[in-house]
Amino acid sequence: MMIKNICCIGAGYVGGPTMSVIASKCPEIRVNVVDLNEDRIKKWNDENVDNIPIYEPGLSDIVKECRDKNLFFSTNVEQAISDADMIFISVNTPTKTYGVGKGMAADLKYIELCARQIASVATNDKIIVEKSTLPVRTAESLKAILDNTGNGVKFDILSNPEFLAEGTAVDDLLTPDRVLIGGESSERGLAAQKALVEVYAHWVPEDRILTTNVWSSELSKLTANAFLAQRVSSINALSELCEVTEADVKEVARAIGTDSRIGPKFLNASVGFGGSCFQKDILNLVYIAKSYGLHEVADYWEQVIIMNDHQKRRFAKKIVTRLFNTVSGKKICLLGWAFKKDTNDTRESAAIYVSDYLLNEHAEVHVYDPKVKRDQIISDLLVLGNFSKEELEERVFTYEDALSCANQAHAVAIMTEWDEFKELDWKHVYDEMFKPAFLFDGRMLLNHDEMTGIGFQMYTLGKG
Ligand code: NAD
Ligand code: UGA
Repeated sequence: MMIKNICCIGAGYVGGPTMSVIASKCPEIRVNVVDLNEDRIKKWNDENVDNIPIYEPGLSDIVKECRDKNLFFSTNVEQAISDADMIFISVNTPTKTYGVGKGMAADLKYIELCARQIASVATNDKIIVEKSTLPVRTAESLKAILDNTGNGVKFDILSNPEFLAEGTAVDDLLTPDRVLIGGESSERGLAAQKALVEVYAHWVPEDRILTTNVWSSELSKLTANAFLAQRVSSINALSELCEVTEADVKEVARAIGTDSRIGPKFLNASVGFGGSCFQKDILNLVYIAKSYGLHEVADYWEQVIIMNDHQKRRFAKKIVTRLFNTVSGKKICLLGWAFKKDTNDTRESAAIYVSDYLLNEHAEVHVYDPKVKRDQIISDLLVLGNFSKEELEERVFTYEDALSCANQAHAVAIMTEWDEFKELDWKHVYDEMFKPAFLFDGRMLLNHDEMTGIGFQMYTLGKG
């Protein structure tokens, strides 16, 4: 079966970039990306492509090339479903905030809504692709909803989890390590799997397109994120040990990373991993293990989150203790708010938790991030529920550049590893700060000895 028309429900960090790349590589396929969020769709359609709602290096060029040719963004979900041969579900699957599984399980209400809408609109057979990250065996529930609509339409469900990382989404999509497609082994299932393989084969070498059964594919996504996050928590755990033993976590990471069985990637100690997925997906894995009565499995993975929470708190506490045990009324400058560089995404960013801790200690928090606006910073802090909007408006200050943010500060803390922070005139920063001038490098971005040479009281994560 040749796919001619794709619909993607969800125009977010995954749906937007993924569909843009499919449209660019498959000019004969019409790709309709739909979302209920009118504002988001309006931005995707903004005449000036620099205003599209997601900042990813290289993305605006692709959107410019394909938009209104074979790539369309719209709020007309029903029409797009009706026209499509293949429907990607790329909606959000956040951690549940209510009821059974609150704080752990994935909230599948958006997924179910999509399934019900597809079932009510479809008048011909369709391939449904799970692009969102889902608990293992979700396809079973989707099938149950889709197959009981009574209108005789046949649906084939595939699992095609996305492995892109934010900030490198376009490169990750153009040259993926692998594409994973899980499907049923029936004749129809295999045909559906083949149809999706053919879409990716436009640009991905076939030996990088892995096919598995649906459950392996669903579970592999949660597993991949759990393994990646576990590496960060492992090196972060060691960073604390380095600090008390005069070992240097960068040197330790290099020493172990050259072992080809371990490998060098994902061994950067940090102020704690953030992002919309690591925590959510591990909590989901823990919940699934618990629900099967596998308590040791659950406890094992939960430790990754416990360590991450500890790392964020430990960093904030370090700022307070180094500043003579009080930050009350002091100006603390945080450089970076995004959860990593090259993205405007702030979900679960360590900066949010560190700020909350400092505000609780009565500090004034001053923030600069090249891609994050004040409204976002205030609303991220508001979600934690510890301060009112009025309090935050009074005690959180935001800036358009790093130097003004650091001016007259008691301490500067690097929260996100933006390249521009490496290039800052640190001598100038030092000169304009209160003395002793404290510098906390939560990303091991700066040269410790150089900064100490300038005069900073320097704390580099993981350095004794
Ligand atoms: P997102 O919140 O940025 O986007 C989801 C979009 O879906 C939103 O714009 C929302 O309005 C829309 N939506 C929700 N319900 C809808 C409905 N019924 N009809 C139409 N639109 C609807 O989320 P995201 O970051 O793109 O993540 C989507 C999924 O992909 C999640 O399951 C996530 O775990 C997974 N994932 C994310 C990343 C990432 O880097 N962000 C990477 C891999 C996988
Ligand atoms: C991660 C995975 O890398 C993707 O493969 C996956 O598709 C995605 O989650 C998802 O499912 O959402 P992402 O969260 O965008 O991607 O970014 P990462 O590069 O993985 O970074 C996550 C967090 O870990 C960031 O806060 C980053 O700063 C931190 N990190 C990463 C470290 O602290 N140290 C490292 O060595 C690597």
